Amino acid sequence: MRLFAFWSLAAVATLASAAHLPPRNYSTHDYYAIHITSSTSPAELAAHLGMTHDGPFTALEDHHVFKAPKNDNDIVNDAVQELKRRRRKREASPEYHVLDSVRFTQKQKLKPRHWKRDAIPDAQVERIVRQNGNVADPSAVTSQREIARTLNIKDPIFDEQWHLFNTQTPGNDINVTDVWLQGITGKNITACIVDDGLDMHSADLKDNFYPEASYDFNDHTPLPEPRLSDDRHGTRCAGEVSAGKNDACGVGLAYDSRISGVRILSGDISDMDEALAINFELQRNDIYSCSWGPPDDGRTMQAPGILIERAMITATQKGRAGKGSIYVFAAGNGAAADDNCNFDGYTNSIYSITVGAIDKNNLHPYYSEACSAQLVVTYSSGSGDSIHTTDVGANKCTAQHGGTSAAGPIAVGVFALVLSERPELTWRDMQWLTVLTAVPFDQPSDWTKTPGLGRSFSHQFGYGKLDAWAIVDKAKTWELVKPQAWFYSPWMHVKQAIPQGDKGLASVYEVTEQMLKDANFGRVEHITVTMNIAHDRRGDLSVELISPQGMTSHLSTARRDDNAPYGYVDWTFMSVAHWGEKGIGKWTVIVKDTKVDDKAGTFTDWKLKLWGESIDASKATLRPLPKEHDDDDHDKIDEHPAHTTSITLPSGTPISANPSDMPSRPVNQKPTNTGQAATTSTATTPSSSGSVSATSSPENFLPSPFPTFGVSKRTQVWIYGSIGLILVFVASLATYFYLARRKRLRSSRDNYEFEILDDAEDEEGGARTGMLNGAAAGRQGRRARRGGELYDAFAGESDEDLLSESEDGDAPYRDRDESPYDEKAQTGGSDAGGSSASGGSTGKRQ
Ligand SMILES: *[C@@H]1O[C@H](CO)[C@@H](O)[C@H](O)[C@H]1NC(C)=O
Ligand SMILES: *[C@@H]1O[C@H](CO)[C@@H](O)[C@H](O)[C@H]1NC(C)=O
Ligand SMILES: *[C@@H]1O[C@H](CO)[C@@H](O)[C@H](O)[C@H]1NC(C)=O
Repeated sequence: MRLFAFWSLAAVATLASAAHLPPRNYSTHDYYAIHITSSTSPAELAAHLGMTHDGPFTALEDHHVFKAPKNDNDIVNDAVQELKRRRRKREASPEYHVLDSVRFTQKQKLKPRHWKRDAIPDAQVERIVRQNGNVADPSAVTSQREIARTLNIKDPIFDEQWHLFNTQTPGNDINVTDVWLQGITGKNITACIVDDGLDMHSADLKDNFYPEASYDFNDHTPLPEPRLSDDRHGTRCAGEVSAGKNDACGVGLAYDSRISGVRILSGDISDMDEALAINFELQRNDIYSCSWGPPDDGRTMQAPGILIERAMITATQKGRAGKGSIYVFAAGNGAAADDNCNFDGYTNSIYSITVGAIDKNNLHPYYSEACSAQLVVTYSSGSGDSIHTTDVGANKCTAQHGGTSAAGPIAVGVFALVLSERPELTWRDMQWLTVLTAVPFDQPSDWTKTPGLGRSFSHQFGYGKLDAWAIVDKAKTWELVKPQAWFYSPWMHVKQAIPQGDKGLASVYEVTEQMLKDANFGRVEHITVTMNIAHDRRGDLSVELISPQGMTSHLSTARRDDNAPYGYVDWTFMSVAHWGEKGIGKWTVIVKDTKVDDKAGTFTDWKLKLWGESIDASKATLRPLPKEHDDDDHDKIDEHPAHTTSITLPSGTPISANPSDMPSRPVNQKPTNTGQAATTSTATTPSSSGSVSATSSPENFLPSPFPTFGVSKRTQVWIYGSIGLILVFVASLATYFYLARRKRLRSSRDNYEFEILDDAEDEEGGARTGMLNGAAAGRQGRRARRGGELYDAFAGESDEDLLSESEDGDAPYRDRDESPYDEKAQTGGSDAGGSSASGGSTGKRQ
């Protein structure tokens, strides 16, 4: 307690920000999360709707909690729709009405509980590899004793805590003791265990427990006490992070840190409760430890609802005085059920650090999920041992903590050490430091040297195992990264059947240097791909992403138990495998239907987003909060150019991540997008130009591309690769006329243009190794003809730049000047919580 005596004073003044919200009781009331315009009085809205205003969200600006007596209807959405209807019929005045202040509303539904990630799905049986006797190395034991003596560690199970100092398989530990010897022990940093409670009475935790940063969102009491018989998980995780140096059990990684608890796993909650929980005390809690998530059953595909997503973004923008809260998620335990952490919208969020497990022999434990969103691994159960830590009870320990649940908090402890040394690091610096210091190890996996940073990445182990000493050491002199920037591609409309078996359907989008410059985008950190695939059996699908520099991310993998009779619905996959790449060039998505059977599907569309470091920090902006249907602009096909062509991979094409064999792949593919060209050719109709000009910002796209308009360089690039970049120019009316004139001028030169291109292709093909191998010659004629068709349909290469620019510059800001009803109208309250309401449903996230 002494540690935060000084905090308590401040704490009393502003005590328990959750306490300002009365406890919720879902059996007597309905709850609504409503986002209103800042100038509106919540009381006025409440009065109009006959509701009670419980109070504002703690962190989400202008979001409020309202309640009303239980009713089957969504009274807020109904009222808004009714007002709209009456206005249409001119029965209601178009003048301001208090309902016009509603920007978003969501009636809250209790959701299925998350799984704790120490639970291993029943179907999976551990192959116990008992070690022969667990023999300790005598010299390692001597060093361990010496360290304990120097640091005055007298904790009775310290010598069992192999993850801290391993005497049996020396070196297979978190490498923390020399960090402690430097006096770095987590002082002044708080980790918050978001879980099933935290035993603050435990002798091992009570001195570090931080009550003012804790709350129970299940029973609505200030202290998150474990009350159910199986409420042990949170306490065990807490012990790994912050068990004190004392005479109880062992020590935590950051034994002088503070530890808080937010209890959400021991009862039913809604999205609103979860959003409040993960935003709880953003200025007191530095790191949120989340060892849970949607079921790891190999059948579930679930993402956080929009409120939770907004909460995470808000935390990275406002938490820790603007440096950004650190979220750590356990990767998931479904590997034996073919599960993959990219089917979990928490672990595949760019705002969370996903931590998988290895066991004490550096082996991959059968449960730990792989995915392209996994950043790092650390120690947990397997090879006959588990993590030894604090348990519920005055002085109780356990030797049974395991699963990726136990790996996550070890990373949390390490990050607490890093922050205590460099509190000013941002949430992205923590990810950079992890990428740069994680240690690859000698286990067979798909280790690949990343083209951007030359680090080794494996989908099973991320960038390797966390090393406490290495990351703290690097943090000491680390120069903070510049603020975040992003670049969004338009929707790429593919709309083609996916071939079955070894074949794949590829779609390509090319990012130019200018696009990234205009987006103030310097280098890649995260990549996300949002996509729609219609399929009779979701588990048959797999998706790869190949970067311009030749790195392959396996965005999704086939899952034997996933029988969902639809494919991916607006699902966003994430990859950290492209960290440090430039991002310029062709990004290829390859969709496969791995089973040859009667269950087939269509690749509908996709959208690429690059997230990374800005070029000019002074021009960086904060990402606006996403709207619920941010990406629901697929059907506006006429407003978006298809910069893509779809190609069928030759059967048996290996998807390796070897950069050197990448450039040849797209060229081996057979262009099949005649239909595509036909569809997109409608994009140059005057009506569509008109509609885009309405949402485009003229100063964004007019100046720079215009001078380059007549240059055919980019057309050449497009054709060389035999990846038709289909170009559409859609902009302001003035631009349209300009374009039309150009097109007229050019139509007389069509033949000439294409002869030139064919020649150039031969030259360039020879120059680029392997780009145009054997098949190319035979296809030449066809390609030229196809190019001609495309050329006729689409005006000119610069259109692409123009359009992407307006798209890019525009999209992130839409939220700001949206009409008040935008989100609302689409939300339909009762279905708003639906994305996370049923296990196994498709979730939707930005
Ligand atoms: C909710 O209200 C009902 C009826 O008043 C009561 O029986 C129940 O205990 C309350 N539940 C909670 C969690 O307060
Ligand atoms: C502890 O952290 C707070 C911010 O959380 C900071 O204001 C304060 O200066 C820190 N104290 C020490 C001793 O580092
Ligand atoms: C582990 O820590 C030691 C210092 O105690 C350091 O020399 C070593 O490099 C660290 N291991 C790695 C992989 O960085």
